[in-house]
Amino acid sequence: MSPSSRSLKRQATAWSKPSNKRVAIPPVLGVNTVETHRLSVYRLLIRPLIFRLDPERAHHLTLWLLTQLAPAPFLQWLMAGRRPLAHPLLGTEVCGLHFPNPVGLAAGFDKSAMAVAAFHALGFGFIEVGTVTPRPQVGNPLPRLFRVPADEAVINRMGFNNDGAAAVAQRLRAVRRHVPIGVNLGTNADTPRDHAVDDYRLALQWLYDVGDYVVVNVSSPNTPGLRDLQAFPKLQELLSSVQACNQRLAQQQQRPPRPLFVKIAPDLGPRELDDVIEVVQSVPLDGIIATNTTPGREGLSTHTAEAGGLSGHPLRQQSTEIVRYLYAGTRGRMPIVGVGGIFSAEDAYEKIRAGASLVQLYTGLIYTGPTLPHRINTGLIHLLRRDGFAHVSEAVGCAL
Ligand SMILES: Cc1cc2nc3c(=O)[nH]c(=O)nc-3n(C[C@H](O)[C@H](O)[C@H](O)COP(=O)(O)O)c2cc1C
Repeated sequence: MSPSSRSLKRQATAWSKPSNKRVAIPPVLGVNTVETHRLSVYRLLIRPLIFRLDPERAHHLTLWLLTQLAPAPFLQWLMAGRRPLAHPLLGTEVCGLHFPNPVGLAAGFDKSAMAVAAFHALGFGFIEVGTVTPRPQVGNPLPRLFRVPADEAVINRMGFNNDGAAAVAQRLRAVRRHVPIGVNLGTNADTPRDHAVDDYRLALQWLYDVGDYVVVNVSSPNTPGLRDLQAFPKLQELLSSVQACNQRLAQQQQRPPRPLFVKIAPDLGPRELDDVIEVVQSVPLDGIIATNTTPGREGLSTHTAEAGGLSGHPLRQQSTEIVRYLYAGTRGRMPIVGVGGIFSAEDAYEKIRAGASLVQLYTGLIYTGPTLPHRINTGLIHLLRRDGFAHVSEAVGCAL
C-alpha cells in the first residue's frame, strides 16, 4: 500500500467504522473457500423455468412469491441459518446508520416497497426502494425489460413505473425495520425539467418519515432530460434545494436530517466527475451511489439496438473505475456505495477495495438467484480473513 493510500485509509475509517467492539470472530459454517462454482439449484432448475417467461412477468411473479413467502416460517427458518447478518467482520456504521452487512438491494427491484420483509429475509444488509416519484406513474410502453443471458446482462427502459410517494410511504410505515431502508427519489415524466426540483422536494416530504437515507436519482437513462441534471450548475441548485428541504424537515421534526446521497451514471468523464465531487462536498451531501445503468453497449453481444440502460456483467468494470475515481477525488472522506455487475463475493470485494463502503446489486439476483446476498457475505468474510483485515471498513479503498 502506498503512503498516500495509507493516509486515505485512515481518513476513510474515520467515518466508516466497525459498529461492534472487537470480539472473538465466530467461524462461518461451511465456508472454507470463496464460493465460485457456477452450478446451483437455481441455475440448473429454477432459472430455466423463470427465463421461459417474459422478463417483466417473471419480475412481478418473483415479487409476488417473495411477499407470499416472507411470513412463512419455513423461509424464515431456511434463511435464518444462512445469513451472517450480524457478523462482527461485516457490521458497519456509515452516516450514523448501522448496517449489519454491507450488501444491499439496489433501487429498481422493489420500486414500490412491496416485498421489503422478504429481501431482509434473504440476508440483505440494507434495502433501497424506488425510484419513487411524487405521483404514481405507469412508466414506458411494453416491452421494456430484456435479458441478455449470453452476457449475463439486462437492458431496461422501465421509466420509473411506481405507485407514487403516498402509497410507498404508507407501505413503509407498516414494515418492521431490521435493516436500513433507503428511499430513492425521482421526478415524474410529465414534470417540466425546470420544475424537477419541486418533484424531488415533494417526494422527500412524503417519504422523509420512512426512509433511513435518501437518494436523489439523476442518472436513470429512461426519463428524458433527467441525466442533464447531473451537470454543473444544475446539480448544485438541485442538491442544495433538496438538502435545504431535508434540513427544514429535520428541524420541524426535531431529529437529525436524513443522510442524503446522489446516484450518478457510469458514463461521466473525469471533468464531470470532478464537478460532482465539488458539488457534493460543497452542498454538502453525505455520500454518492455509483453507478446507475449505462446507455452504452460495450461488451454486449446481442440486443445492441435495444434502447435503455444496460446492467450486469458488462457494467462491472466501468462502475468500479467510477468508484475508484470518486474515492481518490474525495480523498476517502465521502461514503461511496458501489453498484454495477456484482455477481459474487469477489465482485463485491473489488468494489470495496476500490473505495465502496457499501455495495448494492440487482442483475446478479436474476442470474444467480436469491441466495446471492448470503453467498457474497460468507465469501466476503473469507476474503477479509485471507487478506488479514479485522473488519470490512479496513479494506475500503485499499486497492487505490
Ligand atoms: C430493471 C431495472 C430497473 C431499475 N430501476 C431503477 C430505478 O428505478 N432507480 C434507480 O436508481 N436505479 C434503477 N436501476 C439500476 C440499479 O439500481 C443499478 O444501479 C444497476 O442495475 C447496476 O447494478 P446491477 O448491475 O447489479 O444491476 C434499475 C435496474 C434494472 C435492471
